[in-house]
Amino acid sequence: MFLCVIFTQIGLFSRNKNLYWAQVLNCLLPTTYASAQMETAVIPGLSRSNEGRKADEPCTIVIFGASGDLTVRKLIPALFHLYKDGQMPEPFRVVGFARRDKTDASWREEMKAGIERFSRSPEVDSAQWEAFSKNLFYHRGDLTDAEAYASLRTRLADFDNEQLANNLIFYLAISPSLFGDVVDHLHEVKLLHRWEEGDQFWQRVVVEKPFGHDLQSARELNARLVKHARERQILRIDHYLGKETVQNIMMFRFSNAIFEQLWHREAIEHVQITVSEDIGVGSRGGYFEEAGTMRDMMQNHLLQILSLVAMEPPPSLAAEDIRNEKVKVLKSIRPMTPEAVAQQVVRGQYFAGTVNGENRTGYRQEEKVNPESNVETYAALKLFIDNWRWSGVPFYLRTGKNLPLRASEVRVQFRPTPSVLFAAQGNLDLDRNALTLRLQPDEGISLRFNGKVPGTTIATRPVRMHFGYDAEFGAYTPEAYERLLLEAMAGDATLFIRRDEVETAWQFIDAIRAGWGDEVLSNREFYAAGTWGPEAAEDLLAQDGHVWHNPQPAK
Ligand SMILES: NC(=O)c1ccc[n+]([C@@H]2O[C@H](COP(=O)([O-])OP(=O)(O)OC[C@H]3O[C@@H](n4cnc5c(N)ncnc54)[C@H](OP(=O)(O)O)[C@@H]3O)[C@@H](O)[C@H]2O)c1
Repeated sequence: MFLCVIFTQIGLFSRNKNLYWAQVLNCLLPTTYASAQMETAVIPGLSRSNEGRKADEPCTIVIFGASGDLTVRKLIPALFHLYKDGQMPEPFRVVGFARRDKTDASWREEMKAGIERFSRSPEVDSAQWEAFSKNLFYHRGDLTDAEAYASLRTRLADFDNEQLANNLIFYLAISPSLFGDVVDHLHEVKLLHRWEEGDQFWQRVVVEKPFGHDLQSARELNARLVKHARERQILRIDHYLGKETVQNIMMFRFSNAIFEQLWHREAIEHVQITVSEDIGVGSRGGYFEEAGTMRDMMQNHLLQILSLVAMEPPPSLAAEDIRNEKVKVLKSIRPMTPEAVAQQVVRGQYFAGTVNGENRTGYRQEEKVNPESNVETYAALKLFIDNWRWSGVPFYLRTGKNLPLRASEVRVQFRPTPSVLFAAQGNLDLDRNALTLRLQPDEGISLRFNGKVPGTTIATRPVRMHFGYDAEFGAYTPEAYERLLLEAMAGDATLFIRRDEVETAWQFIDAIRAGWGDEVLSNREFYAAGTWGPEAAEDLLAQDGHVWHNPQPAK
């Protein structure tokens, strides 16, 4: 029962940190007394909440790449949801910038069709759409043409509102090779200013992933961006950080004494982080040949999850305090020597197979992929965090494409109990306690422990205590981009990646890639689509006496 109360509390990471803590404190007393009755009930006033966070300074969001996939699938649906939830500032404008020939009206129509096709709530209320869409404008121009930025400036000035013309978010939903040029041009036409204390207006630049393709390119890009903007004005996206369940990792740890007290090397045997995809590279073969899983997934999403799982409590919930702690984790990862890469890192590549009854072609047969490619579509590794808390605890990370199902989860496996009691009874095979944080889909948290099988023997078997977000708070899955856009407008950088964070992550990944060199994939590194990865990945854990725990299908 007590655990259920705890689980009730951990999902309450509202959009406003102060409100969140106020809610936690307000509710601790009644929930403790009422615990016996409220195992799965939704607490009145504490179901999923959209309240508490609102971007209140009028601003304009300029989306570079307005005719692209990200804009229609994610950005505009997210902005529309924020609008419906009353979280957009009043007034606001969205200006889409791209080369294709469109009018305001035709772009609005395309965006509406996009919401109907891709949004989490595809029914569009016409009155709401009418009110929202009159704030959308299309600006045709080439990103390499200085004139297009001058006319953008005029267009913003035409809004006839100082805040709309000067409080600006530049969202770079374009190829990373263009990021630097766009920022230079924006600076030249005086749309982007380095922020100074006391400035009346602000500008922020939101940068999509991938942020560089190695340490060197990330450094160059950073150097270019900070020429015209302060670090606090640059918001580097890792959309995983916008996910409610990823944010909840920190809340879970630091708002629950019973877990935080066990969160260290004395109690934890190892940690597994799995991010599995059930699709192949599809039409992104050209991009993937340049990237590979280590850069595309491990450098950002998995290392971000790792840093939240392993960080120390920050002195406050301020963005810099949280990011300082995350960077410390990344800096404490034991560097990978070439020998360590050989022993602790596994690559994989899928060949033809079946996922969910569907035939899948092999990676080398995909469109725009070299038929002899050695690019990895799967990566698994073991790393150590050399600090006081985690010394000696292995962290196993794995991610891959064309695996049996789509899931992201963290599994914390606790150390075994001394087996003295049960050894005498011959019941040696006690299951180890494990806590699983399911990040997506079927979001929730489960605790696995042993229970006595009813009867006259002392037999035990593992049982599970589970908290499910949907059961507890009602179905509500805000898109990560909603949260990220809201934070960008509100000027809170907590959920964005800082310069030193991105560079430290690249340093770690570069060492692994250097260790691989030009070596070709071995037979044990191929896996059939629809399986949990190559045999070499099983070996990686077997050498420590562990096994991977595969995510289970959503119920
Ligand atoms: N799609 C996703 O789900 C996703 C997810 C994560 C990250 N990202 C990142 O987001 C960025 C955009 O991805 P995307 O999938 O939306 O790409 P996309 O569909 O190829 O769109 C690219 C956009 O850039 C515009 N563009 C390209 N060159 C231009 C130029 N010279 N002048 C003006 N506009 C130009 C294109 O507009 P015109 O052709 O009309 O000029 C188009 O609107 C990339 O960095 C990608 O890695 C995307």
